[in-house]
Parts: sequence; C-alpha cells; structure tokens
Amino acid sequence: MSLRVKCVPEAFDIEEEIIKTMNDYDKDVSLKKIDLIIGVYRSEDGDLYLLPVVKKAQQMVLEETLNHNYLSIRGIDEFTKAACTLILGDIEKQWNDETIFGFQCIGGAGALKIGADFLHQFMECTTVYFSDPTWVNHEPTFKSSGFKNIRKYRYFKKESKSLDIEGIWEDLSNAPENSVVILQVCGHNPTCVDPTKEQWKKIAKIIKEQKLIPFFDIAYQGFASGDLIEDAWVIRYFFQEGIDFICAQSFSKIFTMYNERVGNLMFSMKPSSEIDVIKSNVSKIVRCMYSNPPNHGTKTILKILTNSELYNEWSNSFTIMVSRIKTIRIDFRKALEDLGAPGKWNYITDHGGMFILLNFTSNQLEYFQQFYHIYVSPPGRLNVTGLNTNNIDYIAKAVTETLKKSEKNIIM
Ligand SMILES: Cc1ncc(COP(=O)(O)O)c(C=O)c1O
Repeated sequence: MSLRVKCVPEAFDIEEEIIKTMNDYDKDVSLKKIDLIIGVYRSEDGDLYLLPVVKKAQQMVLEETLNHNYLSIRGIDEFTKAACTLILGDIEKQWNDETIFGFQCIGGAGALKIGADFLHQFMECTTVYFSDPTWVNHEPTFKSSGFKNIRKYRYFKKESKSLDIEGIWEDLSNAPENSVVILQVCGHNPTCVDPTKEQWKKIAKIIKEQKLIPFFDIAYQGFASGDLIEDAWVIRYFFQEGIDFICAQSFSKIFTMYNERVGNLMFSMKPSSEIDVIKSNVSKIVRCMYSNPPNHGTKTILKILTNSELYNEWSNSFTIMVSRIKTIRIDFRKALEDLGAPGKWNYITDHGGMFILLNFTSNQLEYFQQFYHIYVSPPGRLNVTGLNTNNIDYIAKAVTETLKKSEKNIIM
C-alpha cells in the first residue's frame, strides 16, 4: 500500500504568501533585515515581548498544578465565563439562565473553525460574508467547513485608505437571509480601520432586518483604543439590542501568548429550548476534532482575569503598549511627510492598532524586500510595533523611495 497524495492547490494557498515571506526573511543574510510580517507585539529593542504579568501568573499556575487530567469538552467553565465577562461585563444572570455560554477553543482560529463547522453542519448556512480585505485565514476556514458561497462586503477605500461605510451598508443590505457575517470588532486586520459607534448601529440594524447571523471576531481587544471595554463596545451594543450572535475570541495578542493557543467561542442568544441542542452539537464537533482543549495557557489567563491585582497590572499594560503604538504612528507619519513620500499619510495617525496597510503592488513589495530587506505581509501590511527609534527613519526612507521609483516607472 502506498500513500497517494492528491494535490489540492487551494489547500496549499493558505497563508502561502506570508509563509513564503517568513522563509525569505529567515534566508536573508543581510544585517539590515527587518521583520514586520506577523502581528506580534515587539518591544523597542525589536524582540518579541512577553508581558511580565503573564510570566508571574504562569509560575503560579505551575506551582498549583497537581495533575494533568483531561479537561471537559467545553474546557474550563470559569475561564469561558471570565472570557465572556471580559467582553460583556456583568453576565451573572445570563450565565445562570445559559443564554450566554462559551467553549474554550484552540486560539481565535480554533474558535472560528468550530463556529464555522457548527453553522454549516447544524444551521445549514452556506453563505458567509467577510470584509474586503480581511484576515487571510477567514476564507479558507469557512471553505473548509463547507461554505459554498464565499462573499465579500466592501470595507476599505484604497485611495483614501478609509472605511467604505456606504459599501458595507449596501452590500449587507443585499445579503440573503441566514448569511453569516464576519465582523472584526476592533483593530481590523489588515487595515486597522474600524467603524464608529454610529456606523456600527446602522450595521446592527441591517443585520437585524436582513435576518443575518453576526459572527464577531475579536483578536485585538484593547489594542485599538487602549481600553478593553471601549474596544468591545459593538458586541455590547448587539447584546443590548437583543441580537443573537456568535463570537470568536482570541487571547494570543492580548496576553502576548501566541503559542499557548487560547480562545473562546461565545454564544449569546434569547432564551430558547434550542440551547441544549446547540451545546451538544458544538460538543460533538469538538469531540471529533480534538476531544478537549489544553490547560496551561488557559489557566494562566484565568488567573489574570480573576485576580484583581493581576488583572489591573494586565489592563494597565495596554496603556503603555498603545501609547507606544501611537507614538510610532506619529513619528512614522512625520518621517514620511518630511521625506515627501508620495501620497497622503494622515491615515497613519487617524487610526490606531497594530497594523498599517501600505497596499503595495507585488513589484513594489518585491523591491522593498530585496533592496531594503524589509519584510511585510502582502500587500504591504506592516506590524507597527516592529518599528522603533533605530529603524523608523530607514523604513520611512525605504517606503518613500519605493513609491518615488514607482512614480517614475522604475518599479511598476
Ligand atoms: C482578525 C483575526 N482573527 C483571529 C485571529 C486568530 O488568532 P489566534 O492566533 O488566537 O488563533 C487572528 C490572528 O492573527 C486575527 O488577526
């Protein structure tokens, strides 16, 4: 017997460009090389940052661990409750009557996948809408769950690098009933452009009227405004409006714990006899996929979320991280403007969050990479925290020269 691999090119396309960029970065021997590819928090010295509070909590968990028994299919109940509380505030009543419940998942990506499988297998959903552009993993995840109609709603005006709110409203108004709509809550990946509260209200109204299924994706809570509650505003609004929703919550960025794979899939719905059915359906998916989730990272985060001293230390760290992001954005815009970089750069300081989308052509990107040894995610999404006082002028110069060379048709 031999294993015969049927090559499915589509399956191979997932994140291929990003992975290729990472490989190119690794192979580059230049001392000038700069990694702005992935959305991880880097400190001023360019290294990957680990929040001190996480280190502290991890140690506490380690000391308290008596055994490594399996967790239940739904994970640690206290954790899923704390995770939902982090978004919605006091949910005691809804938790008790089970109109809010969660499943501990393998990162935000895992929560999206379990949610997508559930919606397709048990709610017969076949159509999903994402923002254009969106996180590279959204489309392959929903395709792999069986969604046949993958649609995009307009989101971003490339010229002005601003929100296409009329486009969002129009496209969602034309979405067929029962379509799933992925809504990135804050710090939108890759644009970092988010709707205002008033704009969200109209999105909520359309979703309600069109009978669409809102599926929130929150991976950067705290990173957009620096305030955890403010960044989750739209989910609280849907909740107050009584709109049922699903939400995939990632803890990777907000706890600087990328490889512990902590996530939560939250359900919020009106009282219904279906709640038990949903729980058992989702449990079935988890049971067949990975049986039950892992422990250590989740316990660490639970410790921080439920210990007021650790919680304060953690939430205060956003003030520091976000203020650094703001300073970098101000300095980068100024450097580009001082160098006369072609285009308008106000968008860099108009928006907050971890990413700046330069929207380069593939030739510009190649030039940027080969000539300056600066590596970003296609089509030019750069991790703001990878900029620092040592490299910011060099990066601004590289952007300026790449754009000027394009204007002169030296790069197409
Ligand atoms: C918008 C968005 N959603 C979900 C995720 C997945 O997060 P995790 O790393 O926890 O799987 C990411 C990660 O980059 C993301 O940017």
